[in-house]
Amino acid sequence: MPPERVVWQPPGAQTELFGDDAPSFDTNLDYRPPVPRAYFELAEQAVYHRSPQRYDALYRLLYRLVNGEPELLEVASDPEVSRVRSLSQAVRRDVHKTHAFVRFRRVESEEGERFVAWHRPDHPILELAAPFFRDRFPNMCWSILTPDESCYWDGQRLLYGPGAPRSAAPESDELEELFLTYYRSIFNPARLNLPAMQAEMPAKHWSTLPEARVMGELMRESPERVREMLEAPKSAAQAFLPRTETLPELTRAAKSCEACPLHEPATQVVFGEGPDRAELMLVGEQPGDEEDLQGRPFVGPAGKVLDEALAQAGISRAGVYVTNAVKHFKFEPRGKRRLHQRPRVGEVVACRAWLDAELRVVKPRVIVCLGNTAAQSFVGSRFNLQRYRGRIFQQPWAEAWLATYHPAAILRAPTAEARAETWTTLVADLRKARAFLLGELATPTESLESR
Ligand code: URA
Ligand code: SF4
Repeated sequence: MPPERVVWQPPGAQTELFGDDAPSFDTNLDYRPPVPRAYFELAEQAVYHRSPQRYDALYRLLYRLVNGEPELLEVASDPEVSRVRSLSQAVRRDVHKTHAFVRFRRVESEEGERFVAWHRPDHPILELAAPFFRDRFPNMCWSILTPDESCYWDGQRLLYGPGAPRSAAPESDELEELFLTYYRSIFNPARLNLPAMQAEMPAKHWSTLPEARVMGELMRESPERVREMLEAPKSAAQAFLPRTETLPELTRAAKSCEACPLHEPATQVVFGEGPDRAELMLVGEQPGDEEDLQGRPFVGPAGKVLDEALAQAGISRAGVYVTNAVKHFKFEPRGKRRLHQRPRVGEVVACRAWLDAELRVVKPRVIVCLGNTAAQSFVGSRFNLQRYRGRIFQQPWAEAWLATYHPAAILRAPTAEARAETWTTLVADLRKARAFLLGELATPTESLESR
């Protein structure tokens, strides 16, 4: 039947068009035209696309393939070929993303333990995505719920059912630890490439995926690449993390960190400080001379500026968790003085595991990065403070995240005017963080990808 004469309707749709005269087909046709394998490979994916035109698109190709154009699939410029290819690609990407983003939570039910995840793929692709989870969790009972459909694994069979609303997924955090372990063991957590990640990761996933950061580059990668990433190096400090993650334990463990060369010349480690349930986390660059001697963050000249700025913004430092991207002082001896030196990217990455651990324990609602280095520790070296300063972003680590000037920038400002302006801006940005905490600002919708 030529495609122009075919009308595709979803299952259950009224067939009024034909009524009782709907043509009947002989399904035992012996006519089996040769169809290239590549067609099936495309169709297998494309057929899961949400587009109502998918059958039409697939049928048009098929019709031409068996009616004198057997090489059609090689013609990449053909609009009907490229249409099917893009349907197929969209589905493939969606499946990869589902593999990356699905996150189970543990629930106790009458039948025992069950793991439940809620996810929102772009297309109804559970049938394509579920076998991956079956192979990884064959001994667990789990369900993946999506708005379109759901899937259950009872240890033996994959069963598919109707869609589920968001509320059907448990909110419990019990599974978080297990899942962090799972992600760590399968995917490389050390890759910090937020701009790339955000380009691939639609913001809608973030609300169900607080540990999205450990997924990094996974979702744009093929399974082969994921395997390679398994062998990639992590943040070197990971090896020094304690078993139990509490602030006292972390602080103690950090004293013996030798994950990068900075520990050697420094006097001591300067770990973060503040309440372990602080709603606001401030992240600086690295300890300075005074901090290195006292072993506490932001107690030198920059710390004084910070204290004043916080006070101006109506924030009590006692309620804030204050830390640095790098925990050892990096300096260059100059006579009796020790001149501050910027940490290298490698040192920031090496130290990142400590910051990650602090984030896991403190779980701040708002993160304020003081200066470029802190921001880059989160989002990679492409971050540009001039461009993004003072804007609240949606990201995986907290409800809100923003970067502002480092207090030392005020001390370094070349003119009184520049100093005044930097100061005003720093205070205004801190006020913004406070306003967010007070519920005066809406949840951010801007992610760094929307630059
Ligand atoms: N500058 C920082 O970035 N952190 C400190 O702790 C002190 C100065
Ligand atoms: Fe460890 Fe960070 Fe110190 Fe390097 S700077 S030794 S990673 S604590």
